[in-house]
Amino acid sequence: MTEKIDREEIQKVIKSVPLLSASAAQLLRTTTDPDHDLMDIVKVVKTDATLTARVLKVVNSAAFGLINEISSLDRAISYLGERLIVGIAIGDCAAQLFDKELKGYEGEHGALWRHDLRTAIASREVVVQSNSDINPDLAFTAGLLHDIGKALISDYLQGTAGEVLEKIESEEFDDYLSAEEELIGFDHPRAGYELALAWKLPEAIAEVIRFHHTPADAREEFQELVYAVHLGDNIAMMGGGGTGADSMRYKLDTNYTRLIDLQPDALAKVMLTVNEEFIKLERSFSATGDSNR
Ligand SMILES: [Fe+2]
Ligand SMILES: [Fe+2]
Repeated sequence: MTEKIDREEIQKVIKSVPLLSASAAQLLRTTTDPDHDLMDIVKVVKTDATLTARVLKVVNSAAFGLINEISSLDRAISYLGERLIVGIAIGDCAAQLFDKELKGYEGEHGALWRHDLRTAIASREVVVQSNSDINPDLAFTAGLLHDIGKALISDYLQGTAGEVLEKIESEEFDDYLSAEEELIGFDHPRAGYELALAWKLPEAIAEVIRFHHTPADAREEFQELVYAVHLGDNIAMMGGGGTGADSMRYKLDTNYTRLIDLQPDALAKVMLTVNEEFIKLERSFSATGDSNR
């Protein structure tokens, strides 16, 4: 018998995880500002000595195979690009969540980080390949954070995966989302949204976290971004990069075609890029010092 949880309980869990660092929070705000440029990113990184050291360590890691060492932060940031900088900053701050073994989903250690990274790459590629006006780096960042709620509710779901899969099979549950709601009274997008509020994440990212499985419910101004991540998430799962038992047990809202113009050949291209980029990025992120990521 699983225990039902409410908002108060989720907030208790949230209180036990570290806050985002000031620099990571500022980087997220900068990324969502349509008028920003790379110099704005440089300025924020410069305020944080630990992050500066990390960035230099990553750019000079074996993953990038540079012949000459880069010692200037400006050059390191323009080489790595905005999305990697934001990824390093968030990955470090939220390591406790990303690295959590998702026992409730029977996910392997590191599965959440790997799935989020695949989704981030796929969401960015969806935006690029469909010639959308959305900032590709914003799509990447939103993709990276979309499933963070799973780390908050996973423990409450322990031992339920077998039953959930059976009940989805027999159509007693619609999908994994309704299973979460039925069993513990809280689903992972809502839990993630509570964290987004606690961390004061930019609205666009909070909206993605909340509606990534039900994009039609997102506010009009954020719908295209939410659909891009919805599609990116599905592409990541289709490529075998889910978080565990729940992979592919969510509904795909095919209405994405209303907002995202992605031809079948472009979709194939996205899938290919996801695999290539994932290998590269996973290696570069692991250069931040944590071998699980
Ligand atoms: Fe999700
Ligand atoms: Fe996901």
